[in-house]
Amino acid sequence: SQLQDISSSKVAAVKDMAFVFDIDGVLVHGDRLIPEGQRVLQILNGDNELGIKIPHIFLTNGSGKLEQTRVDQLSKILKSPISIDQFIQSHTPMSALAEYYSTVLVVGGEGYRCREVAYDYGFRNVIIPHDVVAWDPTIAPYRTPTPSERRAAWPQDFSQTNIEAIMVFSDSRDYATDMQIIVDLLRSEHGRLGTVAQDPVAQRIPIYFSQGDLLCPTEHPIPRMSQGAFRIGLEAMYKALTGVDLERVIYGKPELATYKYADEVIAGWLMYLHGEEKLPKNIYMIGDNPASDIVGGNMYGWNTCLVRTGVYQGEGNDRDNPASFGVFKNVLEAVETAIGKEL
Ligand code: G3P
Ligand code: MG
Repeated sequence: SQLQDISSSKVAAVKDMAFVFDIDGVLVHGDRLIPEGQRVLQILNGDNELGIKIPHIFLTNGSGKLEQTRVDQLSKILKSPISIDQFIQSHTPMSALAEYYSTVLVVGGEGYRCREVAYDYGFRNVIIPHDVVAWDPTIAPYRTPTPSERRAAWPQDFSQTNIEAIMVFSDSRDYATDMQIIVDLLRSEHGRLGTVAQDPVAQRIPIYFSQGDLLCPTEHPIPRMSQGAFRIGLEAMYKALTGVDLERVIYGKPELATYKYADEVIAGWLMYLHGEEKLPKNIYMIGDNPASDIVGGNMYGWNTCLVRTGVYQGEGNDRDNPASFGVFKNVLEAVETAIGKEL
């Protein structure tokens, strides 16, 4: 019975903990598995001393695909089932905006994948820059659309359409065209292309960005510029052209709205696993980027673990945003240490 007491207190401890995983640089590099990631998911899915599931969700600044498409791909790479109910990518919380805007310009990503994502979120008239260029090619003087882009475009008469908001969902594949169209819209009267507003602030439509990372690790040895760099370029252009600062909303880590959304997802996942919606006391965030995963987790009161398999390569803990639970060689070491502490 003493043994039973020990194991029931361990079960109670498990019910009061949850893991939040960053994806790129922690579990995978793009489509390439980080081997310790596979083992970690086996452990959390029940291959542990108690034989029970340890709750975990995924919180990535990744973007550009339907949630279902990305979890299917990750489940295959990690060889563990992942549900969309435990998965948040940078633009996932933006689905709530579909309640407020109907006609939107969606920017970034490959081809027309982000159009698909926006329709999935419930936006009713989703325009992408290719549509605008197909309507009036003189809008983007440095761009000749390819035949496949022309086929994918849905030109409308944009001189008769008010675009209500701009949503940057993913990395721009063509800075010149996307920046031109965004600046045109921000300077227009209520999102009507072909107009220039007298008052740039009062008639301006809102702009939302799915995440703010300046840099992103890729196959290239030096990290590449990401959505944050694109946004900073836009802000500088807008200020130079209008004399006023661009107001904007940013989602993704380390923004507060994204962590609040993560709490809801954790609560929902616990309801599914344990039939209780109470938020666990001990949440562990495991990330590779001090400037997004760690700073956000620290601000939100989570235990943060920094791993060395991605962006962070420094000695010891990060100086500006130290991980509160420590620095680990990889995700397996971090998870084993956290479980060891709690159980
Ligand atoms: O920077 C964009 C993306 O690749 C980062 O993904 O999973 O590290 O938040 P993640
Ligand atoms: Mg990462």
